[in-house]
Order: sequence, then structure tokens, then C-alpha cells
Amino acid sequence: MNDRGSMPVGAPSGATARLAGDPAGLAEAARLLRAGRLVAFPTETVYGLGADATNPAAVTGIFDAKERPRFNPLISHLPDATAARREGALDRVAERLAEAFWPGPLTLVVPATPGTRVCDLARAGLPSLALRVPASPLAHEFLAEVGRPVAAPSANRSGRVSPTRPEHVLADLDGRIAALLDGGATPVGVESTVVACLGGRPRLLRPGGITREALAEVLGQEVWSAEADDSARPIGPGLLASHYAPRARVRLDARSIEAGDAALLFGPDSPGGLPKAAASFNLSERGDLAEAAAALFSGLRRLDASGAAVIAVTPIPTTGLGEAINDRLRRAAAPR
Ligand code: TXA
Ligand code: MG
Repeated sequence: MNDRGSMPVGAPSGATARLAGDPAGLAEAARLLRAGRLVAFPTETVYGLGADATNPAAVTGIFDAKERPRFNPLISHLPDATAARREGALDRVAERLAEAFWPGPLTLVVPATPGTRVCDLARAGLPSLALRVPASPLAHEFLAEVGRPVAAPSANRSGRVSPTRPEHVLADLDGRIAALLDGGATPVGVESTVVACLGGRPRLLRPGGITREALAEVLGQEVWSAEADDSARPIGPGLLASHYAPRARVRLDARSIEAGDAALLFGPDSPGGLPKAAASFNLSERGDLAEAAAALFSGLRRLDASGAAVIAVTPIPTTGLGEAINDRLRRAAAPR
């Protein structure tokens, strides 16, 4: 460590530098990223594993570090809407959503512009691309300093629980990436909402930090789910069923806890059998969905660390942020 609280520049290859979220740390993170290295950085949703989206060799590194299939397209992160419009063509619906929710946890899938610098690999060869302008001030400064689109999936090994704290990133990726920009815990806790605006009605490809209700209010119409329309399925190629998976098996809608299970709870009520649980974690005792979203991935990791074979999850409402929480939990429970 040097006097800035950061690892020394030129740390031996294989070591992951932990950079403080100060001007020196930001400058070093941006320098590494522009040099084609991988840098994990905080957004308001989860930590992203960033690479220069214009550099195919750098983007290849993301897939290798995560052990992620290469047909899965990545989100390009930009510091503001002006920078985003250089890469993708926003129609009227996309512009309204961008105006209402950027910067913030909304990703727009739009046609790529002819002049886009985002490489084919980051887009998985698609004619569209996913654009996001994060609200985290540290992410904003980092992206502005990089000055290029930054491709970033969540900074976890493929299929595992997404990282909401710097130590989660290191647990999965230490030694596999050049640096981690430390921004503490991420406040939203579930990934961005992904909406496709490719002509016709907008489609919800992934529920996330912006609720379906908030989208409908801005657009004056319901947003269709990709699942509700099979023809939309191929446009969300990254939506694998099993995902966000802890080591333990996940049992949903548990009304009671079996002895030895770990219990993931929501709200003030205690389910039957709780005293015999191996461990328990309440996402929000007062039943607040924003608090629960922020705690979800930490809670799953914590209960997994208890060594229990099963994580039993009590029912969580499906409205508002509950849609994204239940989506992540269903994937965590899906057959592997
Ligand atoms: O909050 C977030 O969105 C985080 C932070 C780091 O920004 N990122 C994130 O990235 O969750 P990732 O790679 O885990 O999820 C990206 C999603 C995938 O479901 C992918 O299939 C979809 O966006 N996606 C990306 N490009 C697409 C495209 N051209 N068409 C359809 N879906 C696309
Ligand atoms: Mg992910």
C-alpha cells in the first residue's frame, strides 16, 4: 500500500490492485482500462467488470476472467446521454426513458449507430447494443476519465451471485483482473432494468432497479415483457435460466424452515421452524423492498457461507422492486 491507500503502480502481474475512490485511484483505474486491462468499478446497482469496449482483446479478457459464454452481449457504460447517443440510436421512446432515468439503473437496447466504436465482440455480433449511464458519482468520474465506452457485466464469475461490495469482487476475481476501484457497498443492489427500444413497443428484457410501474408512468403505457412474446426471446440472449446461484440449493416461497436450512427472510413475521435454522438473514424487517434489494446479494453470500445445504426463502411481494428481487431468486433456484 502507498500513501494514497492504493496498491503500488506496476504491482506484479497476477495481483489485483485495490484502488481508493480518490483522484489518484481514479486516474490509475482509467489508465489501466485504457491500456486494455480489466478494472472492476462500482455502480449504484452492482460492481461492474470493466474493459475498453472499443478493444476486442480487452473485451475477450472479460469473458475469460468471468468464464462467461461469448455469445452473451455486454452493456456499454457511458458518462452521459450525449456520449451514449454517439454509440446508439435512441428513438422517441428511448429518449423519453433516458431523460427520465439517466443517470440511473436503466439500460437501453437500441440499434448501434454506423459510427459506433463498440466492438462486435462486446455486442455479440448483434446490430443492437445495450447502453447505460450509471448514477454512481464514482462511476461517472471513472467513465468521464476513460473517455471511451466501457463494457461491463457484473464483476462475478459467470452464473454466481452478483457483487455489491468490494470484497465480493475479490472473492470471485482476485488475481484475475488488474484492479478494483473501491466505492464501498452499492446502494441499489440489483442490476439495471434492461429495456429494448428497437421500433414498435418497448420490451422489458430484465427487471431491475427501475420498476415496471415507473417505466409505465413515464411512457403512459405498459411495457411488454420479453417472456410474454416468444418472438422477442432471441433479443435477450444473455438471459440464462440458472444464474445468481449460491453453492446451496435455493427453495422459494418457504412457509416454514426445515432444521439445518439457512433462512432468507422478508418482513416482521417469523416462519415456523426458524429456531432450528442453521443461519438466518432478514432482507428487511420492516418489509421495505428497496432495503431488501440492497441487501439481497450480500444476504445470499452470507447464508451460503454458513455451509447449509439449502437456503429457504420466505415469500416476497412481486410489485415494484419485488419483481427484480423475485427474478434473481428464481434464477438462483433454477436447476443447474
Ligand atoms: O446493473 C447492471 O446492469 C450491471 C452493471 C455493472 O452495470 N451490469 C450487468 O451486466 O448486469 P450483465 O452483463 O450481467 O447483463 C447484461 C444484460 C444481459 O442480460 C444481456 O443479455 C443484455 O443485458 N444485453 C446486452 N446487450 C444486449 C443486446 N444487444 N440485446 C439484448 N440484450 C442485451
Ligand atoms: Mg451478471
